[in-house]
Amino acid sequence: MGEEKGHEATAMVPIRYVSYEGEEQLPLIMTLIDDELSEPYSIFTYRYFLTLWPQLCFMAFHEDTCVGTIVCKMGQHRNTFRGYIAMLVVIKPYRGRGIATELVTRSIQNMRDAGCEEVTLEAEVTNKGALALYGNLGFTRAKRLYKYYLNGVDAFRLKLLFPQPYDQRMLAEYGGPCQENEQGEHVCGHHHDHDKGEHTCHHFDPHHSHDVDIHGGWNHAHHVHSASCGHMHGHH
Ligand SMILES: CC(C)(COP(=O)(O)OP(=O)(O)OC[C@H]1O[C@@H](n2cnc3c(N)ncnc32)[C@H](O)[C@@H]1OP(=O)(O)O)[C@@H](O)C(=O)NCCC(=O)NCCS
Repeated sequence: MGEEKGHEATAMVPIRYVSYEGEEQLPLIMTLIDDELSEPYSIFTYRYFLTLWPQLCFMAFHEDTCVGTIVCKMGQHRNTFRGYIAMLVVIKPYRGRGIATELVTRSIQNMRDAGCEEVTLEAEVTNKGALALYGNLGFTRAKRLYKYYLNGVDAFRLKLLFPQPYDQRMLAEYGGPCQENEQGEHVCGHHHDHDKGEHTCHHFDPHHSHDVDIHGGWNHAHHVHSASCGHMHGHH
């Protein structure tokens, strides 16, 4: 499962990226994180993340050495389905080669694919490396959290908003794709043009909009425009 080559950023070192496969990888992940992060985490915390969201954990290997890892979760938070990056570490000799960027990119892509609308995390206000890394990836500073860490340091809450494939309110207001009853009659209630003797409907429909990527690609336009779908309908 999940073993692939990295992108160009890591091409100068042969790094393998592996998604979390099971408990036998837990000691590797714990050692890496315990050595590098200021917060202490218990094995229960690790198991909570890794058992429930294994698809959001990746490890970077150089030959047989695990040189980096990311641990995340996702779930409903108030009205938002959101991803959360809990832990990210790359060991010192391997820093500055794009490994963390690749780990974060993989996790947030899986969050996006799972329907997350945003991703958040906290980073120490003094952690220039992490703040620069996440800034490069489009995260912004949403809040400053006073003495957030056990060591007394403040945190920034960072947030990445995913472009939404379409505006849910508009869709609710104008209806979804055209619907017909069993007799082929048009029952969706959209506005229609009847001038050409054929039935062309104009409505807000992401499936017929060229600017909309309903599968949620990263850089696609995310607004909805009025699409002319050209469906033929039963006349009434
Ligand atoms: C933060 C950390 C994960 C970065 O790992 P990394 O693999 O070196 O990061 P990348 O190579 O992907 O860096 C990408 C970009 O982030 C920025 N960056 C990373 N480390 C930086 C540093 N020490 N100082 C300034 N900018 C830095 C740079 O803009 C870099 O791009 P560039 O190399 O093109 O300039 C790593 O330093 C680490 O493990 N630190 C200790 C644990 C930690 O702080 N985790 C984050 C908790 S929120």
